[in-house]
Amino acid sequence: MPRSPFSAPHHGLDFDAFDDARSPRPAPADFDAVVDRAISRRALLQGGVALGVTAFLGAYVGQSASAATDNAASFDDGFSFSPLSASTADAVRVPSGYRAEPLVKWGDPILADGSGFDPATRGTPETQARAFGDNNDGMEFFSHNGRHVLAVNNEFTNLSVMFGDNDGQRPQSEQDREKSMAACGLSFVEVQAGTDGRWRPAPRSELNRRVTPSTPIEIAGPARGHRLMRTRSAPAGTSCHGTFANCGTGRTPWGTFLTCEENFNGYYSASDPAWSPDNHKKRYGIRDEDWGYRWAKIDPRFDVSRDANASNHMGWVVEVDPFRPDQPPVKRTALGRFKHENAELVIARDGRVVVYMGDDERGEYLYRFVSRGRWVEGGSSDGLLDEGTLYAAKFDDDGTGRWLALTPQTTGLADVAEICIRTRQAASAIQATTMDRPEWVAAHPDRAEVFCALTNNKNRGEKPNAGGDAQPVDGVNPRANNRYGQIVRWRPDADDHASETFRWDLFVLAGNPAIHDDANAGSASVTEDNMFNAPDGLAVDTRGILWIQTDGKTTNTGRYAGMGNNQMLAANPATGEIKRFLTAPAGAEVTGLTWSPDRRTMFVGIQHPGEKAPSTWPDGGLPRSAVVAITRVDGGRVG
Ligand code: FEO
Ligand code: CA
Ligand code: CA
Ligand code: CA
Repeated sequence: MPRSPFSAPHHGLDFDAFDDARSPRPAPADFDAVVDRAISRRALLQGGVALGVTAFLGAYVGQSASAATDNAASFDDGFSFSPLSASTADAVRVPSGYRAEPLVKWGDPILADGSGFDPATRGTPETQARAFGDNNDGMEFFSHNGRHVLAVNNEFTNLSVMFGDNDGQRPQSEQDREKSMAACGLSFVEVQAGTDGRWRPAPRSELNRRVTPSTPIEIAGPARGHRLMRTRSAPAGTSCHGTFANCGTGRTPWGTFLTCEENFNGYYSASDPAWSPDNHKKRYGIRDEDWGYRWAKIDPRFDVSRDANASNHMGWVVEVDPFRPDQPPVKRTALGRFKHENAELVIARDGRVVVYMGDDERGEYLYRFVSRGRWVEGGSSDGLLDEGTLYAAKFDDDGTGRWLALTPQTTGLADVAEICIRTRQAASAIQATTMDRPEWVAAHPDRAEVFCALTNNKNRGEKPNAGGDAQPVDGVNPRANNRYGQIVRWRPDADDHASETFRWDLFVLAGNPAIHDDANAGSASVTEDNMFNAPDGLAVDTRGILWIQTDGKTTNTGRYAGMGNNQMLAANPATGEIKRFLTAPAGAEVTGLTWSPDRRTMFVGIQHPGEKAPSTWPDGGLPRSAVVAITRVDGGRVG
């Protein structure tokens, strides 16, 4: 009996097989038939979406009922704030009863010999090297022996702001290029609480530190010394210079900071016009032209036609001890090389270290590292992030999933070192699930439950990823031309992060219910009062609130009408309820979230105000990225 797509069970039939059964392939030579098929395929994809969303939202409702019982104690009083409306104001808005104050801004001096930010020059290479970097992203708050350090990523420079006075708003001189380089990397700032309970930076603390694209860095793990890591400036392949494109973060139970290198490809270029990228470079987006930074003009490491392997030094998770500014950071190559978003570290039941990591590009993968050794509270961390196995996630449409190990046997790559360097190719080889741009992963602190923001993916259902892997609509990525994004949640089987299998659901599909009545309206938990697009930053606090930060389109028109500027929302994992907590200044993204140990101050990152929309935040003048401290006026806990 022929199957109807709407009565056939969605489970057990993969989408391509389903599609082929419904829409037999035309003869390739028949151009009209190919076009017809493309059109009917699109119509069919929409049918698939409706089916998928219903199936997965059904699963979500079923699971949340039991989760509500588990978690009742954490949420007996619900959220303690009144949600905000969407906003296009050039301001950080927080609910009534809260205040938000900039703590440290791009260009603020943090080293002892620094000098104050000069908006007339927008800094020099010398002042910038001693100052808080640009475009703060992920951050973590560390405490040790009564002292406190905020460790912050400075992801990139806003060329149109930093060089807003130049022709074309681009770096023109060697000085300009050096300044932009000095604004990238990491900023470590000691913070102290005043008698009023409010935190302030300690500008000349010996714990303050800048790590930049020029800082000496160790290379550890399987790729250390590998032939692909040997470069002109680092012939042994055991050390290198610099970290940059630092996006999300993580932290270890032994008190170190994990910083994740994301869009590193945009800094490399070729001076030799005959150079062209090989498949490895292409997979990572390395081309003959950079994205306007022109670092190759001041440092041959960034010229791929002169130093073929130098770009293999980037794309890693880097570990830094925030209380040892004398120690070099360490690239942990066992965690793989890709466009790392963040690194969410949890401990498996038997003590093994598990790190969840997204690769933020359309159709790339979600990964997990499982250590060989075990962490014992107070014990040594030696080797824990250097030896273990990488896995990529396979999401099956029946709500189950598997972690597929990346080994020489499964991937066909030569050895573990090559898998670490060419991680994307390894995950393609095992046919993991191509994802809608995996951004931050956040784990619940009290139970084995994990969330990942899949920010959007206009290529879903349209074309393959950079490695040629298909991106069909599927259960976990259920919308073609996905403009709004979704958050997937999984629970490892046996409540053990080291399990090979898990169950998953879609925690929320973002959307716009004001203008759509199909799957683009989003989940039932999305309303005209809380809608958003492009979930990106995620963190679960100690009460179990899932905080969602957005990096989306802020046109506030068309499919984004009514969403306003970027924002931060709070979600209850047990009920699915979502409330808007913060709205960002014009053009800014909200990214980076950490707390003081007493949870009475929340630190939130405001990145690139003024990018694509005029802003004078925070001082009424030049827009400057900044970390904002959020407190309750009554001194209570935030959230
Ligand atoms: Fe730097 Fe994917 O965000
Ligand atoms: Ca991000
Ligand atoms: Ca993003
Ligand atoms: Ca960003």
